[in-house]
Amino acid sequence: MAKYVGILTAGGDSPGLNAAIRAIGKTALSSVEMQVVGFKDGFRGLVENRTVLLDQATLSGILTIGGTLLGTSRDKPHRMPMGDKVLDMTDTIVETYHNNNLDVLVCLGGGGTHKNAYRLAKKGLNIITLPKTIDNDLAMTDITLGFDSALGIATEAIDRLHSTAHSHHRIIVVGIMGHNTGWLALGAGIAGGANVILIPEIPYDVHVIADAIRQRRRHGKNFSIVAVAEGALSKEEVAVQQIAIQSKDVAKTKKEKKEAIAKLNQLKVLHSDNTLQLTKQLETLTGLESRLTILGHLQRGGTPSAADRLLATQLGTACVSIIHDENYGVMAAIRGKHVEPVQLEDVVGKRKTVPLDHPWIETALSVGISLGN
Ligand code: F6P
Repeated sequence: MAKYVGILTAGGDSPGLNAAIRAIGKTALSSVEMQVVGFKDGFRGLVENRTVLLDQATLSGILTIGGTLLGTSRDKPHRMPMGDKVLDMTDTIVETYHNNNLDVLVCLGGGGTHKNAYRLAKKGLNIITLPKTIDNDLAMTDITLGFDSALGIATEAIDRLHSTAHSHHRIIVVGIMGHNTGWLALGAGIAGGANVILIPEIPYDVHVIADAIRQRRRHGKNFSIVAVAEGALSKEEVAVQQIAIQSKDVAKTKKEKKEAIAKLNQLKVLHSDNTLQLTKQLETLTGLESRLTILGHLQRGGTPSAADRLLATQLGTACVSIIHDENYGVMAAIRGKHVEPVQLEDVVGKRKTVPLDHPWIETALSVGISLGN
């Protein structure tokens, strides 16, 4: 019997999404009994029933193109802005699923998408997810789609910042994405030869960083590159954060809880504000002129790397095998060299941070990179 496959992309885009859509579509269409439809702009497309037929013509010529042909959004099914209200649209999504005669819905996304997909699975929909995020922070998979491309972009940026930092005898602080994990900053920092790398997993001390830079200066190196993950916090900020979390947990009155949440929100200052402050502090402490470059969304745009195209194609084709097996409520995870279905409940609500005994940490320290602690 024919199988109707729906696909959507949700959360922040990343290079390799089109390659994955193409792989799912082409593999599914080569099997006579499957038809594939895309939903536009993440879960919102399901609410509004905005579809694109993914036929051979639509799937052609998209392997190398960045972004997602389906569009994306961060909309959540259970809390979706609809006009001037925020509504739970889950039942509408379930209705759209059935009205389109779907047998399965494939959701490509990161942590937020997995939470949303799992909610729909619990409503009885057949769901398969593919792990996509430049942050590489999804649990149960060795790697996520988009990480390698972003790593390459951030590494090239550090390469380019090197020559200008060197020529002007400056410190250049470079802000790298990664949400609350340091995979991108650590990987690109090592690959690009940064002198200091700051990640959320290791709270930093600005004086330790300044010492490392001054020591380089004593050895005749009048410039430094400091790679900072967007979630990196100083030891002082972490202490304040922990007190606020504790106060929130033990708050007895609504007022106390509100105050603790306000404190936590205050700490979530914009990455650019945080790193600008760090840049100024380093200039004062070292006497070296300092500049800040935030890479931002550059890291999510453009052509996917070869490794991401391969990964997308492997994930997409494996996803169709999982559909054939009717193994639903799972994420297609990369484990070693293979794709394995893992239960969504084992993925949702967890974050894969950089373990402190990860080989990249040891590698960074061995070549004399300061991690600021
Ligand atoms: O999750 C991917 C990511 O690029 C993070 O690294 C970053 O924190 C966030 O998305 C930025 O989101 P937005 O595109 O909504 O500004």
